[in-house]
Amino acid sequence: MVITSKELRNKWIRFYEGKGHTDIGAVSLIGDGTTGVMFNVAGMQPLMPYLLGKKHPAGTRLCNVQGCVRTVDIESVGDASHFTFFEMMGNWSLGDYFKKEKTAWTFELLTEVFGLDKDLICSTVFEGNESAPRDEETAGFLKGLGIKPGHVFYLPKSDNWWELEGTVGTPCGPDNEWFYPIDGKEGRFPEDYVEIGNDVYMQYQKLEGNRYVPLENKNVDTGFGLDRMLLFLNGLDDGYKTDLFSGVIAYLEGESGKKYDEDAEARKAMRIIADHTRTTVMLIGDVNGILPSNTGAGYILRRLMRRAIRYCRKLGVPSEVMCGAAKIFIGEVYDEAYPLLKEKEEYILDEIRKEASRFETTLAQGMKEFDKCVNGIARKNAFMTQSNPDYVPETVIGGKQAFRLYDTYGFPLELTEELAAEQGYGVDKDGFDAAFKEHQEKSKATVHAGEFKGGLESHSDMAVKYHTATHLLNAALKAVCSSDINQKGSNITDERMRFDFNFPRPLTEEEIRAVEALVNEKIAEDLPVVYREMSLQEARDGQFVGVFDSKYGDVVKTYSIGEFSKEMCGGPHVEHTGVLGHFRIVKEQSSSAGVRRIKAVLE
Ligand code: ALA
Repeated sequence: MVITSKELRNKWIRFYEGKGHTDIGAVSLIGDGTTGVMFNVAGMQPLMPYLLGKKHPAGTRLCNVQGCVRTVDIESVGDASHFTFFEMMGNWSLGDYFKKEKTAWTFELLTEVFGLDKDLICSTVFEGNESAPRDEETAGFLKGLGIKPGHVFYLPKSDNWWELEGTVGTPCGPDNEWFYPIDGKEGRFPEDYVEIGNDVYMQYQKLEGNRYVPLENKNVDTGFGLDRMLLFLNGLDDGYKTDLFSGVIAYLEGESGKKYDEDAEARKAMRIIADHTRTTVMLIGDVNGILPSNTGAGYILRRLMRRAIRYCRKLGVPSEVMCGAAKIFIGEVYDEAYPLLKEKEEYILDEIRKEASRFETTLAQGMKEFDKCVNGIARKNAFMTQSNPDYVPETVIGGKQAFRLYDTYGFPLELTEELAAEQGYGVDKDGFDAAFKEHQEKSKATVHAGEFKGGLESHSDMAVKYHTATHLLNAALKAVCSSDINQKGSNITDERMRFDFNFPRPLTEEEIRAVEALVNEKIAEDLPVVYREMSLQEARDGQFVGVFDSKYGDVVKTYSIGEFSKEMCGGPHVEHTGVLGHFRIVKEQSSSAGVRRIKAVLE
């Protein structure tokens, strides 16, 4: 190893500190919502307000190494060069220095610190369009530094313009990209070269309708990928061979008894497990850490984790190896750069185990179900082709089947798509969406019917007590079993309550006892039950659970039980939980696919 990841991080920071920059450190990987981007996809993202003119407390020259998560092509991970997490080495001028200094410093860093040959460096600049002129200025500086004139290329916006795609109001501009021959020998550009980084001259703001207006400040935004640079400086051609991954790959070889270099299938599985585990560690262990769930960023995390778990099976190792790999990332690879991970180690490992156990209870059955779908189509095709030579074979798995895999077996749609693609099939996505919607409508109807029976039809004291008990049970199930649990229906008589909820497997005896104990604890605390009307938005923000089917701006009715339970609900309820008596679960059983039913009594 010519240079390690730790040395590279340090060299970057030290070089720019030497040029008057302040190391501002890395920030959370989770987007703050201002750009609509879920994760930090570039080092400049957290600096957006400053690139637009706000004064930065650390001054006008900044640098850092920032983690980024890009999940647009999760399915491509498994080859030598795709990763869902990477680190970007960056530095910025906020209206301070511009092209002259920046070209000189990048050139100095590459040739003097990293020892690259100036005669081999290639560099591209913006060729100009109606929004911004041809970048003769940067080209002039590059040639002045000693880069061969024939090595400076003018390219169009698709290559040499940098902006955060899909956003409006964000800073952007022409960029200058740096390339070096892959094998260290003069070759043909671009096919024999690798891009090692870029300097963006952020001097425009992107407005609606693809319009660009000049910013008051002329800024510089530099980004060099640490993972890529490490690979390249060490003369490697496989991203999993750098010290960021070599320890984990060796560990996976040991656990599986398979050789990374000799077995292409095992290699792919090891890469996926390694990459997805690293991103999982980073997202759960982040300062604003997230957990796997069925929506938003949590869903992306769930996809990553479940994909890794599936590849553990393929590799023939238990999913516990994800914890082994996680420990290496936390304790050896990122211990200096991300010390917070060490503090959160137990929590991270615990969450990995929880998600694995949630998924593994249904994975094997789900795989059987998937095979059934595919075999069914194949059989039908074989039969039809025999009897009708013009028959066009079916190549798509139905939306309802994909939804069943999702709802009953916890297969993210993308997982089904990936499995299908491996066998040459597609998935009817529109059909999946339709099935999803239909299911939502149905469960709303069940909840409402349940509420009607539970609350409004019978107002006996006992029924009101049971109604409050359903709220406690709902919250207790979420706390004990999974935050993904939602009520799917309820039914109350004066003698007992029934409560349906989504969960992929029977509850264990311990879980049932823990849920029961938690409900009884909340009864013993004699918590106040508080009714309040609020806007739908307020209910959402306050994390009230329930069916958000009211129109925006509507007023909704809510009940909170201490801090323990918050639900949108029409009531009625008891005033204090103390009056409920003792809560006991009499039965836990299946209600329908993916839905469990609890019967309970108050005694
Ligand atoms: N913002 C530029 C990039 O992400 C530096 O490549």
